[in-house]
Amino acid sequence: MNADVFSLYGSPRSEGFSSSIHDALLAPLKETGLRIMEFNPYFSGVLPCTACSFCKSNERCVNDDGMNALYETLMTCSLVTVSSPVYFSGLSSPLKAFIDRCQFIWERKGLVKPKAAFFMAAAGSAYEGTFDGLRIGIRHFFNTLNASFDEKEFIFLKGSDEMDGTPKEALRTAGAIGKKYRAMLMQDGNE
Ligand SMILES: Cc1cc2nc3c(=O)[nH]c(=O)nc-3n(C[C@H](O)[C@H](O)[C@H](O)COP(=O)(O)O)c2cc1C
Repeated sequence: MNADVFSLYGSPRSEGFSSSIHDALLAPLKETGLRIMEFNPYFSGVLPCTACSFCKSNERCVNDDGMNALYETLMTCSLVTVSSPVYFSGLSSPLKAFIDRCQFIWERKGLVKPKAAFFMAAAGSAYEGTFDGLRIGIRHFFNTLNASFDEKEFIFLKGSDEMDGTPKEALRTAGAIGKKYRAMLMQDGNE
């Protein structure tokens, strides 16, 4: 299936902090005719990569768990958005498994359409370097997707353990970023 936007939710909590911020970002994009594919690896049984190298010489992954249908979308869409909780200072494990399975795309680096990408994450605590591990992994993922991105704009919400709900300011920021991408994609004639 083709899509203009591929949105990867990395939290098992659909109403948690990172998912709420992600929803706020997508809201302006959903007001258009843009085709948005939302995917959460928690609910789809994405298997881990086993480094079998099958994807090096075949046009698919050896696993038949649904990922093969997503590679084309990831390679041809115009915007990728990703959200994750911080788990042990890293990405959530199903999200990491999804990213590892994009080794298929890494093997085809020269064939991936340029696109934009955005990342947001939520952490229960607030210690030095809370998001460092995620930042590095996401940078690697976005580079593999041939995506341009501005890390200074990424939304990192710290200290969620002490919060009652997602701060309005984070939701507003996400909405403004969604509007920016909406303008960019409509200008590019994606609708
Ligand atoms: C398995 C697990 C590991 C966690 N590890 C960390 C951590 O390393 N650092 C941190 O600040 N918070 C940690 N937390 C707290 C989550 O980051 C926090 O609850 C966050 O809001 C979850 O994101 P979500 O609301 O989008 O689901 C952890 C929570 C769980 C369940």
